[in-house]
Amino acid sequence: MNAEDREMLQTQLCGMSMQSPLVLLSGCVGFGEEYTRVKGFSNRDVGAVCLKGTTGNPRLGNPPHRVFETPAGMLNAIGLQNPGVDHVVREILPQLPFDETRFIANVSGSTVDEYYEVTRRFDDSPIDAIEINISCPNVKEGGVAFGNDPDMSARVVEACRRATDKPLITKLSPNQTDIADNARRCIEAGTDAFAVINTLMGMAIDSESRSTVIGNNQGGLSGPAIKPIALLKVHQVYQVCRDHAVPIIGQGGVASGEDALEFIIAGASAVGVGTALFYDPLICSRINRTIVDYLRRHGIGAVEQLVGSLLLNEPESGCSA
Ligand SMILES: Cc1cc2nc3c(=O)[nH]c(=O)nc-3n(C[C@H](O)[C@H](O)[C@H](O)COP(=O)(O)O)c2cc1C
Repeated sequence: MNAEDREMLQTQLCGMSMQSPLVLLSGCVGFGEEYTRVKGFSNRDVGAVCLKGTTGNPRLGNPPHRVFETPAGMLNAIGLQNPGVDHVVREILPQLPFDETRFIANVSGSTVDEYYEVTRRFDDSPIDAIEINISCPNVKEGGVAFGNDPDMSARVVEACRRATDKPLITKLSPNQTDIADNARRCIEAGTDAFAVINTLMGMAIDSESRSTVIGNNQGGLSGPAIKPIALLKVHQVYQVCRDHAVPIIGQGGVASGEDALEFIIAGASAVGVGTALFYDPLICSRINRTIVDYLRRHGIGAVEQLVGSLLLNEPESGCSA
């Protein structure tokens, strides 16, 4: 990729200057070290790496099985296994190569106070941005319970906003009735950006034993199976965001350059890649290539000019059946 190609991929996300619109997603890259041993992998192919969800105290996570492959996707219920925010800030962040890409912390909590405290700890660290996960389906308290209630979502965002001046990204749940209304409330509460979407709740059953496969009984569905839902949710959230210049990191099932382009056209300023990394760790350099080729073919100078350029049909009724 030459300098002109790289220039076309340059992306601004709420004050962060990124070398590509691609973001490696939380939970799919550990604490940034997961793929660096893979030959050909480079942090320089992505605009940012989002670290594993972090809580106030260390968590062991859920009992096995924690992951299960499904048609065109996977279920996971890791249960936010992590060493706690003190360990992450003291031991892990100093090892991260901040000269290669941007790093985003991913914050979870069981109470509003815990979200505040963990965000405050990251505020006093070299991390580039903070993502708050109010949409984790795999923990009993907090997580999706906050994300599906607009009042609670707003309270968490307000608290985290008080805790930091760093870019604040709110990760929205697709498991809710009106994602656009929730986004509006989070903007009023002070979020700088959104991550859309987290996983959808699902279940796998073993008919012989009549038991659930996942230790946690239910888990979050990710991968290509959820892409059409994710595209619609990005489109819906973008209708609110564009008036406020609040950017979206679109995600959910991205497994090719074409997928990434679809998210950008739907309204995403940046695009997350998660599950696809499990079977294709070198996918990001190819996605970058596809994006640049597309921009050239369509005479578009930069990714940002494509954001939200979706052309809608005018159906006679809102009914999709
Ligand atoms: C194994 C696994 C662990 C995850 N852990 C987290 C997490 O800790 N925090 C979070 O916000 N999202 C987590 N996610 C959700 C992803 O970041 C992403 O939003 C979701 O998987 C959709 O993107 P994808 O289909 O490209 O994987 C996890 C996903 C997977 C597959």
